[in-house]
Amino acid sequence: MPTADRRLDVVMVGGGMITHDQLLPSIYQLQRLGAVGEISICALNGPPLRALATSPTLREAFPRQTFTPYPDFNQVTDEELFPHLYKEVVGDLPPRQCVVVAVPDQMHYEVLKVALAADQHVLCVKPLVLRYEQAVEIEKEAHQRGLVIGVEYHKRFDDRSLIARHRYRAGQLGEFMAGQSRLVEPWYYRHSNFQNWLTLKNSDAFTYIGCHYVDLVAFITGLRPVEVSVYGNVRKFPNGNEAFMWTDGRVVFENGACLNVLNGLGYLADGPGGNSQGMRLFCEKGDRGGIIDHSDDFRGVKHGFDAADGHGYQEPNPDFFRLIDLGGEGLTPVGYGYRSVAYTVNAMARVERETAGLAEPQALKKRQALLQEYDREGIMATPKNSSYNELVMEAGRLSILHGGRHVVIRYGERPGIAFKNEFEFPNYGD
Ligand SMILES: NC(=O)c1ccc[n+]([C@@H]2O[C@H](COP(=O)([O-])OP(=O)(O)OC[C@H]3O[C@@H](n4cnc5c(N)ncnc54)[C@H](O)[C@@H]3O)[C@@H](O)[C@H]2O)c1
Repeated sequence: MPTADRRLDVVMVGGGMITHDQLLPSIYQLQRLGAVGEISICALNGPPLRALATSPTLREAFPRQTFTPYPDFNQVTDEELFPHLYKEVVGDLPPRQCVVVAVPDQMHYEVLKVALAADQHVLCVKPLVLRYEQAVEIEKEAHQRGLVIGVEYHKRFDDRSLIARHRYRAGQLGEFMAGQSRLVEPWYYRHSNFQNWLTLKNSDAFTYIGCHYVDLVAFITGLRPVEVSVYGNVRKFPNGNEAFMWTDGRVVFENGACLNVLNGLGYLADGPGGNSQGMRLFCEKGDRGGIIDHSDDFRGVKHGFDAADGHGYQEPNPDFFRLIDLGGEGLTPVGYGYRSVAYTVNAMARVERETAGLAEPQALKKRQALLQEYDREGIMATPKNSSYNELVMEAGRLSILHGGRHVVIRYGERPGIAFKNEFEFPNYGD
């Protein structure tokens, strides 16, 4: 639970699926708890904002809460587009509030730049940006201004991830050597806005979805990824656009461990769960083996009724994000999707609380010290502690566009990626 005693006003840029399903209900809950003040939401046009304002789910959970829409969907036609309106709305926010970035991946960088220029803390959905050098630029600018940038990798806030991380780092599970991960998103994604942008030239299933488990394995083990190769199976969206709809990636970590990363947009529509996901990591220590095995789709809950309403049998995930009746008004969000947002907003509020009343030079120094603490702790993903994700995405794109060629990641003074020299395969002897 956040304990902020300073309310942050929030501007959310992007009013799509993730805003409806996770971010807005979390922000509403923080408003209910007194951690958040005014809420505004910007979208490209009116319809998504109307959908949020009239959503039966959100109305039931937060009957008395609302937000200011930009544009005002009652004043404009549905066809009018407002691609730059968010800049004014963010610019009008008093400094050191909170901007939530929830627009398509390729727009994150420009919205982050606008938010930083307006002196705002930022909660950004994954991936932060698409290029490593952009992540470094964002990190430096945020540090100079003493602003929190939290990247919303919510799997980190699943208790099972934190338990595994704690035990792994205490040496109780051995050292990761080889593993498999799988995240296949639902079929209906093919019929959504994805068909307009998740196309061959922009992205692929590995880039869009694979980062979750790559980040999680690095989060648990502390190991950095150093080599990537990705195969893509090209299929068509309903509108005819082509995409790397199914991908199989191999990520090698700095200790030689390898992770197989299977991704796709294609979990069967009639399946009992929301998607297919999980990971199995095999470890070693001395003459003994270890294992971390998470079933992240079926979590032991089965609901069903032979009703004619089409819901049938389900295996719901109770742990990600649910709105439950805990008494009081409306419903209460629970789960790691909520905890992730609350943690980040609380981290921003703490920076403001602990520097309130200080003269500017001291306040900035203290803010920067807190940012370094967040970077070092590594619980919340920041540009500094998670930019290996951008390197992996860049490497993955290069690989998939070249038939799965191996791409290496170099760290040190000037991190970057390059094709693996094909003549440098290890020599295992005769
Ligand atoms: N598991 C996760 O962490 C997770 C899950 C889903 C989505 N996401 C990320 O969230 C982001 C958004 O995904 P989504 O599924 O909500 O997409 P979406 O297509 O449903 O929504 C995108 C929203 O951005 C708005 N938008 C576009 N251009 C804009 C502009 N110029 N100004 C203001 N608003 C603008 C659109 O109006 C729309 O409301 C993506 O980066 C995606 O990768 C993360």
